Amino acid sequence: MRVSDEEWSVGEAVASSAAPPHALAYPELRYMGSKRRLLPWIHEVLQKLDFESALDPFSGTGCVAYLMKAMGRRVTATDFLAFTSLIARATVENAQSRLDRRTLSEITRPRRDDPDFVARTFDGIFFTAEDRAFLDRASAGLTRVADPGAQAIGYAALFRACLKRQPRGVFTVSGDLSRYDDGRRDLRLSLEEHFGEQVQVFNETVFDNGRENRAFRSDVFEVEADGFDLVYLDPPYVPRSDDNCYIKRYHFLEGLACYWRGLELMEDTKVKKIAKRFTPFSYRRTAVDAFDRMFARFSNSTIVLSYSSNGYPDLETLGALLARYKKRVDIYERSHRYHFGTHASVSRAAVTEYLLVGRG
Ligand SMILES: C[S@@+](CC[C@H](N)C(=O)[O-])C[C@H]1O[C@@H](n2cnc3c(N)ncnc32)[C@H](O)[C@@H]1O
Repeated sequence: MRVSDEEWSVGEAVASSAAPPHALAYPELRYMGSKRRLLPWIHEVLQKLDFESALDPFSGTGCVAYLMKAMGRRVTATDFLAFTSLIARATVENAQSRLDRRTLSEITRPRRDDPDFVARTFDGIFFTAEDRAFLDRASAGLTRVADPGAQAIGYAALFRACLKRQPRGVFTVSGDLSRYDDGRRDLRLSLEEHFGEQVQVFNETVFDNGRENRAFRSDVFEVEADGFDLVYLDPPYVPRSDDNCYIKRYHFLEGLACYWRGLELMEDTKVKKIAKRFTPFSYRRTAVDAFDRMFARFSNSTIVLSYSSNGYPDLETLGALLARYKKRVDIYERSHRYHFGTHASVSRAAVTEYLLVGRG
């Protein structure tokens, strides 16, 4: 196993170029574990690897898959959550569809038969009455958009609008919005105003890289593993403190992605959560075995694994596991500061970020 710092080992120097600017301008979603701030460094490492096709099976915000799309590769982005898969469909799979003004006003136009699930269920929990009514009619409106690319743009815009309007961008806190109102524009704008802006933002992410890119929902252990030159793995890690449950933080967006159809609300929870999804990466007793099985599944591809120094298992263990399936393992390291939350509640953790590259 070799440890390299930010440069490649001597003898391997290849002319490096800057990351594509539109990839670096990817919409910021304040998503837990997002690698958006690390894209220039990830690009530096990726561009030295020989690959035409890539899979990102923990796509989250979609920013790394989008980077690889911007690098001209054929990209498949998957995630086990519905709302993140829709975001990747808008930005990674979608090559040409934009959501035009006429469709936008069709989506937001009130109708007599608009549903009222959000208004009824989340009264006093999230947003204002006006925002909740907007979410009900926009959700119905989005189901009427026939073009899947344009529809995905609408969903991505709706999710980012919710994240901007919701204090701290997580759905663990409920109650009166005015408690958090410190004059910030994001908290002042209505959801409908945010939505209009975000449609523009996601329209601007659309481009065609000349390849058939795909995005869909799947568990990492169910996605077809063969046929990718490179697999970028960014799973959740067992945290040292707190938890890393995506459903706990983003249950509202996961529900909104399907308008809670087929989902069971946990009525006794203050914020009307849905049940969390099991992932073996979140528990000490299952994580090591999950990494082992995952490396075995993707052993025919170059594996690039993101790891943070505050995660379990430790770097040594992961490097040794990867070396069971790959002849050569290089480790690149970079320090990174995570920001989570805002103002007094901000927690900043200085962690070291690693990329483990397994080849051969
Ligand atoms: C650290 S985040 C990925 C962040 C992403 N690389 C980005 O930059 O936005 C981990 C993601 O893995 C997903 N996930 C967790 N367990 C999974 C599983 N078993 N299969 C597929 N996705 C999973 C979560 O929904 C989450 O979006």
